[in-house]
Formats: sequence, C-alpha cells, structure tokens
Amino acid sequence: MARSKGLKLFTGNSNPVLAQAVSRALEMPMGNCRIEKFPDGEIDVKIYDDVRGVDAFFIQSTCPPVNDNIMELLLFGDACRRASAERVTAVIPYYGYARKDRKDEGRVPISAKMVANCITAAGYDRVLTMDLHSAQIQGFFDCPVDHLYAAPVLFDYFRDLKTRADLRNLTIVAPDVGRSKVARGYAKRLNAGLAIVDKRRVSGEETEVLDMIGKVDGQVCVIIDDMIATGGSIVDSANACKKFGAQDIYVACTHPVLCGPAVERLRGAPIKECVVCDTIPTLGKDFPQLKLVSVANLLAEAIRRIHFSESVSLLFK
Ligand code: R5P
Repeated sequence: MARSKGLKLFTGNSNPVLAQAVSRALEMPMGNCRIEKFPDGEIDVKIYDDVRGVDAFFIQSTCPPVNDNIMELLLFGDACRRASAERVTAVIPYYGYARKDRKDEGRVPISAKMVANCITAAGYDRVLTMDLHSAQIQGFFDCPVDHLYAAPVLFDYFRDLKTRADLRNLTIVAPDVGRSKVARGYAKRLNAGLAIVDKRRVSGEETEVLDMIGKVDGQVCVIIDDMIATGGSIVDSANACKKFGAQDIYVACTHPVLCGPAVERLRGAPIKECVVCDTIPTLGKDFPQLKLVSVANLLAEAIRRIHFSESVSLLFK
C-alpha cells in the first residue's frame, strides 16, 4: 500500500549523477531543496517542497568529502523530520566509516556504530544501503535496514564480458581472507574456481601479500572487493595473481573510493578491466581500465518497493 501523501526524492551533493539516474528510473523529478555551505564551512539546508505527511527518500553516499557528506545527511534528516514528513529514509549507496566496525585495539572508537547512531538520532526511520563493508553493520542501526548487493549488476557486466573474452578458465580471487565468503558466492554463481590472497595490512596505504591460496596459474582471474580506497589491496592482489601465473586479471569492486595514490597505482597495474559501480562519483579519477556500471535501477526499484510496502528481498538475490 502506498503512503498517503506519496513519495519524494531528494539528494545532497555527494553523488548528484546517481541521484538523477534514480529519479529518471522512477520517472519522478527530484525534490527541491538547497544544501550549501556558509562561509565558515557550516552546512545549511533548506527544503523548498512541502514534505508534511510525505514518504521522503534522501540519496547521499558518505564518500569523500566524508564529513561534509555525513553532515548534509544528518541535517537533511533533521529538517525533514521537523517539517513533519511521515517517514524519512536515508538512501546511502556507499556507507563510509564502515571499516572501523569493531574495537581491534584499546581506546579506539567503533566509528561505524557511532555514525549509525547519529543517522537514527537525526530522524531517519529507515536505511537503504548497498554492499556494507561487513553485513553486521546492519545491526548498528536501530531502525530497519535494507541491504542491497551490487552483485546482480556486476554479474550482468561479466555476462557481457563473456561475449568479448574467453572466460572458460575463470577464478574468482578474494583479496583477503575477510572477502572469501563473498568470493565463494561469486565463484559458485559463475561456476568458477576460488583463490584467496593472504594479505597483511602494513598501514592505511600499504598492504603486503604473504601467499596465494588456490590455483591462479593459467587462469582468468577476477579479483572482487567491496571497495577500492588507496588501491593497495587490489594492486597487490593483481601483482600476486600475475606472479603466480594468471593469464588475465580483471577487477570487480562495488565502491570506487579511489583516494590518495589509487588512480596512479591502478594505471600501472596488470589489470585488463576494472569494473566499479556508480555508488561514488569517479569524475576526474579516470584510468584506462576503468569501466562503470550503474546501480541506479536497483536503487530505484528498492525505493519503489519500500514505498509500496512490497518485499525488497527479491532484489537481494
Ligand atoms: C578491506 O578489508 C577492504 O575490503 C578493502 O580491501 C580495503 O579497504 C581497500 O582499501 P585499499 O584500497 O586502501 O587497500
């Protein structure tokens, strides 16, 4: 059943291109609001549309500039709640601060939980997100969370690639042990082998490959990960695949954070194609192997189903 006063879509400044694509897919215009900065850097939000009784969706990735994008998200939630929206959903295609999801040493925050607390405190009733760094983060939000997977969009890409390249000796490569369960899922779906890179993180920007578990020799390897930040994990994994005899190397990642030395690193890496989703803008971060696929239709369909109280779980598959 649809909500009484209908659905309205809004966006912040984090990823307007994706938001416009979602708006086109839903065949509805973007709601009218202004989100700007005061001269001192504080963020100012004004919603021009009447949102009283409305089912409002605010599309905002918490990608770089992370803290500004989070503040836009929080302030919009507060504005919408105070303007008497019936329900406010935070659509967060990429959820930043997710990697700090546990206390792995003394006297450190659990940032993923703290940011989740802020989002619900700001007035959001539900969250729609995609490929969280760890699935447990869903439980950090004290409200319903619909957690989508980009896999169907990435599978489409590989189906298309199959028409252009010989993918018979396909092996899915997890860049670390943490990603092996997801990689196994891909391997099963694509009827491929599985290999795992034994990686150690040296610092925020540096990783070290200790070993390769599984066969990559003579294989077409697809390294999968949730995000590329500085590119260390992916490029080290690609180099390891090459060292252990891989024939061709592809990369499939959901979130192209692409910060610091990532673009330079990827440019020089032995990677044929690097497919990423548009959860984060890649404008100005191009490199020859970069291929972009869109999650706009998936998000639009999820928004439609949430609005009409239909099952979203079909989209999880
Ligand atoms: C690690 O657990 C993540 O899944 C990514 O592999 C990692 O965060 C990517 O970061 P970077 O590109 O800086 O190695």
